Amino acid sequence: MTLKLKHSGQYTASVRLFVLSVLAMLSASAADLHAAGPEVIIPAPYEYSVSEGSFVLGGGTSFYIELKKPYLESLDPSMQSAGGEDGEIAGLEEELLSLPYGLVKAGKKSAADIVLTIGGVLPDRRNAAVKSSPSWKNRESYRLKVTEGGIRIEAKGFAGAFYAIQSLVQMAGLPSAAGIDDADSVPSAAVAEISCCTVTDSPRFGYRGLHFDVSRHFRSKEFLMKQMDAMALLKLNKMHLHLTDGAGWRIEIDGYPELTEFAAWRPYADWSDWWVSDRHYCRQDEPGAYGGYYTADDIREILAYAAKKHIEVIPEIEMPGHSEEVLAAYPELSCTGKQYGSGDLCPGKEATFGFLEDVLSQVMDLFPSEYVHIGGDEASKGAWKTCPDCQRRMQEEGLENVDELQSYLIHRIEEFVNSKGKKIIGWDEILQGGLAPNATVMSWRGTEGGITAMKSGHDVIMTPGEFCYLDYTQDAPFKEPVSIGGYIPLAKTYSYEPAEDGLTEAELSHLLGVQGNLWAEYIPTDSHAEYMYYPRAYAIAEIGWSKAGAKDYDGFRGRALKVSDMLDGMGFSAFDLRKEYGNRKESLEPVHHLAEGCPVIYGEQYSSQYPASGDCTLTDGVLGGWTYGDRKWQGFLTDMDVTVDLGAVKPVHYVGATFMQVVSAWVWLPEKVEISISDDGRTFRTVGTVWRDMSDELNGLYFKPYGLVCNESGRYVRVRAFKHPAAGAWLFTDEVIVN
Ligand code: ACM
Ligand code: ZN
Repeated sequence: MTLKLKHSGQYTASVRLFVLSVLAMLSASAADLHAAGPEVIIPAPYEYSVSEGSFVLGGGTSFYIELKKPYLESLDPSMQSAGGEDGEIAGLEEELLSLPYGLVKAGKKSAADIVLTIGGVLPDRRNAAVKSSPSWKNRESYRLKVTEGGIRIEAKGFAGAFYAIQSLVQMAGLPSAAGIDDADSVPSAAVAEISCCTVTDSPRFGYRGLHFDVSRHFRSKEFLMKQMDAMALLKLNKMHLHLTDGAGWRIEIDGYPELTEFAAWRPYADWSDWWVSDRHYCRQDEPGAYGGYYTADDIREILAYAAKKHIEVIPEIEMPGHSEEVLAAYPELSCTGKQYGSGDLCPGKEATFGFLEDVLSQVMDLFPSEYVHIGGDEASKGAWKTCPDCQRRMQEEGLENVDELQSYLIHRIEEFVNSKGKKIIGWDEILQGGLAPNATVMSWRGTEGGITAMKSGHDVIMTPGEFCYLDYTQDAPFKEPVSIGGYIPLAKTYSYEPAEDGLTEAELSHLLGVQGNLWAEYIPTDSHAEYMYYPRAYAIAEIGWSKAGAKDYDGFRGRALKVSDMLDGMGFSAFDLRKEYGNRKESLEPVHHLAEGCPVIYGEQYSSQYPASGDCTLTDGVLGGWTYGDRKWQGFLTDMDVTVDLGAVKPVHYVGATFMQVVSAWVWLPEKVEISISDDGRTFRTVGTVWRDMSDELNGLYFKPYGLVCNESGRYVRVRAFKHPAAGAWLFTDEVIVN
């Protein structure tokens, strides 16, 4: 293949010669240079066309930024740390100059290869298709036109111009990816070729978030800023910082030194070691103290970087649950007044509100976001039932139960936050006992909470665990690092559609967008966190930005490989999609057998939590995948006792069922499985018993078929599986196979 250098922008003759001579020297690698266009971008643009020819971005390509007023909502109040109009322009310039293509500033518009116009004549006046895009009148929208003569970017706001640059970068690729192996040796001559094209782009949702759990393992500010580089490239615009939780408090608060000198440190680096010990904290200066926190200056530095990347950082201060660390530091805020009891703040005590208001005031002063996330998830509320302060509060306020007591706390906190001109977001448990009037709901326990909230006119961010929990294993558990469990491959995250059927336009207008969450209990290192975020964050980005209903996983995967190559070149450690093993092989094809489609008579009912496809599950020919949560495994909290009716007396040569063991999830293989057979469904002959032959202490994920080869005949085949004696133990199976 020969290199097409149809046009090199308006290089000076000497730069052009230099580029050409470097390219000649690098002919082997330069031969790899080929144009890419908008077909490679993640998230897929709203609309684009590609034409003949290409533009070569390289050393000396010049740019010019012009500001035509009025620009639309350019100065987003949630990004005030960008420093106003001058700061925004300086930010764009810095972004362009930092790209690895050796771009330079042009003195005047007419001399520039790349012209960015912000505001002024709005692109939608000229483009009917774009005009029909509901969100086109958006500060994040842009139009990008690449011709052989140069590049034109038009945007209504600075964010749009910034995103046009990100699209350009994805099309260009890194210089090394474009064919130059050692970019350092040719700093001013790095080149990348972009197909001639027109892109008109606008986001589907305004909220496209990633969540960072810095409590379970503290992450440096440098780590967060690095992730913002990837987020920006993906047009993700919200960083949800989970700053407080039982594993450590992570933000300095004036007047509460114990939060950061004590509650931010623990004597174990490993979360599991700490969890199975006494879960105590230690002083910052104790040998081996593990943890950390952000000072106000650290936060300001993070926010300034975020503003440049057009990312809004949303702080989360957990309440009333997940507050063990607060109560260890200030036990007077708990129901009992003692350390290391319940993890719930006491809503009966005024001191609790004093504390929360002090903390929230400082957090709201520091973060320009219009939101503060107040947690709200998984409070046990147990101690509230017997606490005299909580009981008095309930009586005084006429509260019927502890759900209403939680709702009282959230309402009161919302009023306080609203009085400062800000809004709350809470996990979907804030629906319990009545939702605060202006609250935004983050739906994680499925989508029901989000749907209920939208139907009652509340804003919603969708982050259902089944699709958006990036702490779940993304590939075959046997080849992946220890994780919280589950199985959410890239394809599963990508398949998520947040606008569910049955919602009206008015209800859907409250759907702000989507977020991927990464809880970090089992994710001690930065590189492991990146491995979990990417590439699944690409899917979150595409769900949040791209048009609905245009999904094509194979195409997306191809683009994801390219973006991962790019992140790799930027020093990220993304999961290697090329080495993906995929789902449990048995689950990929239906299994055909004698009992397929036959009715199943249940002696004991399966659990309503894990019904899979209900009564037909065990003879539907569908085998389960890596997780009992995939709706293919049926779960039992009793012994299993099922009888398959073959419809007529038939010869039977094999009976078996596969069970699963995940001790950490309280799922065990059965102690034994008894198989019997009958002609009439009343009198059964024992065929045999299969015993557990694997330790019940083996942690990890195991599958074991309990089967018997036999030479029998009968109509009714009964399989009884006796579960592990531990209280609350689960049994899971996917199919009763008869042959
Ligand atoms: C959550 O995962 N507890 C919000
Ligand atoms: Zn109490």
